[in-house]
Amino acid sequence: MGKKGIFIVIEGLDGSGKTTQATLLAKKLSQNHNIMLTAEPSRGKIGTFIRDGCLYEEKRLPTEAEALLFAADRIEHMQKEIKPALDEGKLVICDRYVYSSLAYQGSAGLSLDWIKTINARALQADFAIFIDVAPERVLERLQRKKSVMETLKTQQKVREVYLKYVEKGELVRVDGDKPKDVVADALYATVLGLLKTFKGFVS
Ligand SMILES: Nc1ncnc2c1ncn2[C@@H]1O[C@H](COP(=O)(O)OP(=O)(O)OP(=O)(O)O)[C@@H](O)[C@H]1O
Ligand SMILES: [Mg+2]
Repeated sequence: MGKKGIFIVIEGLDGSGKTTQATLLAKKLSQNHNIMLTAEPSRGKIGTFIRDGCLYEEKRLPTEAEALLFAADRIEHMQKEIKPALDEGKLVICDRYVYSSLAYQGSAGLSLDWIKTINARALQADFAIFIDVAPERVLERLQRKKSVMETLKTQQKVREVYLKYVEKGELVRVDGDKPKDVVADALYATVLGLLKTFKGFVS
């Protein structure tokens, strides 16, 4: 059966409010749509290995290996969870996807073309949204143990890659540097606007 649902991706820096906003968006959209809310790294074997095994300094792997693991997790997540939900006509909201690999491993020095190549088999999102918050601000927000990805310089470089895709029109920017409910309203309005442009979708 072919894909009938809609695939929305939420991107942004660590601590930019992706999980907060993806959850609020799912709640708002669930009044009219059948939603699946999910996140990367996934809860599958590879995603669990990434979460537990390689994001912190002492366990860090070569950037290429990291990029391959994220791409492998994405394929498993996509085939086992995202694709089946889309085939059932669900609106899937995924907290991080391919743009996270481009932004993080790309800003760590890997070629964006290579990252795209190893992610070529991952289903493309219908819409990808970038919740934009200043790097200084996200670091203030983060209370928990910081992973190696969370230094100011890293976040600035990551944001630059995201903004490049905003300029190209591949990511839609939402201002995340506002109170949570203000961001949630702006995100909801943006998504409703995008859904209207998506004629094939019936829920
Ligand atoms: N608009 C906001 N204003 C102030 N604080 C916020 C806002 N949105 C989220 N926060 C707070 O910032 C912290 C990070 O938010 P959240 O976990 O949603 O970000 P995230 O992008 O999912 O982070 P990560 O990349 O680490 O998963 C939380 O403590 C959250 O309550
Ligand atoms: Mg999160």
